[in-house]
Amino acid sequence: MFITDQSLAPFHTFGLQVKAAFFVNLQHEEQIDSILALRHRPRLILGSGSNVLFTKNFAGLIIRNAIMGIRVLENNQDYVIVEAGGGEVWHDLVLWSLEHNLGGLENLSLIPGTVGAAPIQNIGAYGVEFDSVFHQLEAIELASGHSRVFTKDQCGFAYRTSIFKRELKNRFLITKVQLKLNKGVHKLALDYGEIKNTLLERGIANPNIRDISDCVIAIRTRKLPDPSKIGNAGSFFKNPIISESSYLALLADYPDMPSYLVENGRKIPAAWLIEHAGWKGYRKGDAGVYDNHALVLVNHGHATGQEMYQLAEAISDSIQQIFQIELEPEVNFI
Ligand code: FAD
Ligand code: EPU
Repeated sequence: MFITDQSLAPFHTFGLQVKAAFFVNLQHEEQIDSILALRHRPRLILGSGSNVLFTKNFAGLIIRNAIMGIRVLENNQDYVIVEAGGGEVWHDLVLWSLEHNLGGLENLSLIPGTVGAAPIQNIGAYGVEFDSVFHQLEAIELASGHSRVFTKDQCGFAYRTSIFKRELKNRFLITKVQLKLNKGVHKLALDYGEIKNTLLERGIANPNIRDISDCVIAIRTRKLPDPSKIGNAGSFFKNPIISESSYLALLADYPDMPSYLVENGRKIPAAWLIEHAGWKGYRKGDAGVYDNHALVLVNHGHATGQEMYQLAEAISDSIQQIFQIELEPEVNFI
């Protein structure tokens, strides 16, 4: 049923040469009882591995979520409730929504990973976050094997986090996710500057959801490295949120520092901080900082998890020293 000594290189986007002692593909929920009966510890749920950094070989059992299926549960004149298996590829679900002319996912086009991982850090891009389309999810508690439904209020979604990344970290396996997608009137999210500019360049005055998706795909392809060519996990750190007084103090020294006003303070682009600390394009051995985007750490080929980790530590230490800002990793260290 499970594979021993499995190479994880094909199962995560940093492409590190690490192994798992035990590895199992979970294709059907019915398999879960027999998997949970296995005594291998620790256990880790894996989707596409696009937000993990393996710092060493994994000594326990990796349960790779491969539960598939997309089905409509409710369909009325205003919206559709769709349920997707946690192992579905997120972008395939976005394409499905576009084919069915359902609004809500277009700005989230081309984000790597699985549907089951989307709630973990409340994925977001280009002015939209996952929670805006979320209805509810089903998850299995690893300790008991019991199934449980989580409503939106119970998930504690916020910027790049949820209850599954905090209080319930590694305790539930998300098997199915339900989304509420717009059928009738759908308000497009066009506030992100790069989307506006791309639409303008393309001469599109009245965009539809496909136009938005196409623009987002073009922007992402231009800016972010393709993990099949160069190992990475997207943004390595979250964008820090600092108080207005800390912001004003920093602004006196760095008048060109960009920022966005958010509910709980000022969000500062971590990419700007890292670039201004001199790290953009840095490389030591095969561990480096992408030369086209300072927030993306890359494996140029044969970096180890420890080397990637040490680079991340060196970057956050220097940001702390220069700007007195603590960077929090977005990527999950394993
Ligand atoms: P994994 O990396 O496999 O797992 C991530 C975490 O979730 C782990 O802790 C794992 O244990 C847990 N987990 C995974 N599946 C389940 C499950 N079914 N049940 C319980 N726990 C689970 N993210 C954004 O938000 N916005 C972006 O724009 C974005 N751009 C990216 C661009 C690139 C090039 C890359 C490589 C990554 C990017 N990311 C982005 C990060 C990544 O795409 C998301 O975090 C994605 O949701 C991870 O999905 P995954 O299936 O690969 O999860
Ligand atoms: N910038 C630099 N140097 C760089 C790159 C960017 O100074 O090398 C500055 C620029 O001022 C730019 C600003 O940083 O305007 C923001 O950059 P960008 O628009 O590329 O966005 P980001 O803040 O780096 C965030 C998300 C991305 C998401 C994009 C688009 C986080 C941690 N990252 O990146 O998500 O795709 O916005 O919405 O919030 C991910 O989570 O993995 C991810 C890629």
